[in-house]
Amino acid sequence: MKGIILSGGTGSRLRPITHTGPKQLVPVANKPVLEYAVSDFKEAGINEIGVILGNKGREEIQELLGDGSKHGVDITYIVQGNPLGLAHAAGCARDFIGNDDFVMYLGDNILKQGIADLVDSFEAGGYGAGIALQEVDNPKQFGIADVDDKGNVQRLVEKPDNPPSNLALIGIYVFSPALFDAIERLEPSWRGELEITDAIQYLLEDGYEIDSHIVGGWWKDTGKPEDILEANRLVLEDKTLKSRGTIENGAETSGKIDLAKSAIIEAGAVVRGPVSIGDGTTIRDGTYVGPYTSIGENSTLDGVHIENSVVIGDSEITTSKKIVDGLLGRGANIGSADEYLPEGQRLVVGENSQLKL
Ligand code: TTP
Repeated sequence: MKGIILSGGTGSRLRPITHTGPKQLVPVANKPVLEYAVSDFKEAGINEIGVILGNKGREEIQELLGDGSKHGVDITYIVQGNPLGLAHAAGCARDFIGNDDFVMYLGDNILKQGIADLVDSFEAGGYGAGIALQEVDNPKQFGIADVDDKGNVQRLVEKPDNPPSNLALIGIYVFSPALFDAIERLEPSWRGELEITDAIQYLLEDGYEIDSHIVGGWWKDTGKPEDILEANRLVLEDKTLKSRGTIENGAETSGKIDLAKSAIIEAGAVVRGPVSIGDGTTIRDGTYVGPYTSIGENSTLDGVHIENSVVIGDSEITTSKKIVDGLLGRGANIGSADEYLPEGQRLVVGENSQLKL
């Protein structure tokens, strides 16, 4: 069994964060989303991983994962380039996969319980594919599976008006190499992409059985800013957090605090976990960092009140305004306009930024 992680795509829903880098590198609890997929492969005993690269951030992704040895896996990079669809991305991995079965993992997804059960369920039968499903409240907004009593998939429907079930396809699949012949026969859909759901439908029509596996625990697609915040909350809640940094006497801390070795919480600061704070970051006197917040590396927070937020890193935040539900890109600098005249907010805002003042 091999694995592929899809790390291309456009990431348009995460602009402006994705103007400068791929969404798969956005950190959740101070770990890039992509690394959660790598950890899940490792845990499921899958060590040969192909990482599919788009046009954006190829170097950064390769710099982060290297040859995989840091994570105890073997990584091969495969360039897809333009995002021509999930099935197109999978098709780019044909030579890498050869005659093996493989797991396809969307690189912007995070799963609480990993993929080992899905792989075991697929391997127990002679399936053409296995799909991971989860019950959702709003099935009209997802790809939905119609599943029989034995758990075999009968049909897949994309964003149905009359959903046959509330079982949505999440971004993890297992395939036999038969998938590649199905991909060769695909035509682009109305949105111009080669759709993985169409390829699975072809496998069904060719007589392959498709296994379904309902994933326990939470699953999160991190495609939008609010999804990143929710994933951050879920991971921080579950994580065994390590506090290795410096908490000065006179600082007030409570709850789980993941404090990197060279991070400092100064006297007079208040930090209420669960919180993660990266290396080289200082939380100064008069600052409040509230629950479900991750602050990346090399940042300074001085006098701010921040909660339920993700600060990616290399930031200076000294505003006296309260920041809630914020996603701040790398190098964000948020100061105070209090001492300037005329009174007012002073903004240098990048394209597609979202501000609620
Ligand atoms: P999506 O979130 O469906 O697509 P996107 O990245 O283009 O996002 P947006 O709609 O915000 O513009 O993609 C799911 C995952 O699959 C994500 O990790 C990107 C990856 N992907 C590829 O690698 N190649 C592709 O051709 C596509 C469509 C997605």
